Amino acid sequence: MAELIGGLGTSHVPSIGVALDRGLRDTPDWKPFFDGYIPAQKWMADHKPDIAVVIFNDHGNAFFLDRVPTLAVGVADRYKPIDEGWGPRAVPDFEGASAFSWHFVDQLVENHFDPLVCREIDVDHGLQVPMELFFGRPDAWPVKIVPIFVNTIQYPIPTPQRMWDLGRVLRRSIESWLTDDRIVILGTGGLSHQLQGTRAGFLNREADRAWLDEIGPNPEKYRSMSREDYVETFGSEGAELIMWLVMRGAMDARVKTLHKHYFAPASMTGAGMIVLENEDAA
Ligand code: DHB
Ligand code: FE
Repeated sequence: MAELIGGLGTSHVPSIGVALDRGLRDTPDWKPFFDGYIPAQKWMADHKPDIAVVIFNDHGNAFFLDRVPTLAVGVADRYKPIDEGWGPRAVPDFEGASAFSWHFVDQLVENHFDPLVCREIDVDHGLQVPMELFFGRPDAWPVKIVPIFVNTIQYPIPTPQRMWDLGRVLRRSIESWLTDDRIVILGTGGLSHQLQGTRAGFLNREADRAWLDEIGPNPEKYRSMSREDYVETFGSEGAELIMWLVMRGAMDARVKTLHKHYFAPASMTGAGMIVLENEDAA
């Protein structure tokens, strides 16, 4: 059977990609942010996954407000990075793990989830930026991907508990996938930020640090919070943090937190990263 070798979480702020495009990685503003990802990049290089399952939200680029699926899964062989207005990016296309995607979609339906199944779709910064943060700027990505799109843009967004349950089905899908694929799960989004309304610019560094400290040992706290709690604690866009619960829900009850990093603000966001392994990992 396939193996879940780790769960990683990261913010996906679009200006991180723009900073890389413009050669700003080692400027005083950005270097401390990017240097914090070096241990996670080394972890990836050492563990050599075959497939990365990436949970993210599209930001009005592949879906617009006229059609908003609560949950969508890509089953394509290839995904193109979307140009979001800063120009075409020097980022290679992403190869899809389409066979595993179809297996996962089948398991979702078997477990009473109703995903939109996407044979053709492009991917925005929600996926591009985490891939660059963990794998750098390769000529070709060293993993195939499964993109999972969650609506965190247009209310009603799904509940934290639903994200957790989705993670449980993802775990069972990995364990019933009869290959020796090594799989990582990337939960993306957050940490605290609000880009609109009277609280635009809102950050909550204390809550962000608590999240990074506790999502490994005490995920119950975050699974049982309401959507309103997320908006209040992390901001209206920070509520996209619920997507990390898919990753955490897929892992064992007991995990090791190997690396974490926090930097605020990156653009308007408290930017965080974590690397988790199951406590009883081989
Ligand atoms: C920002 C953060 C996000 O998560 C996002 O999707 C868009 C913008 C920001 O801080 O600029
Ligand atoms: Fe976002």
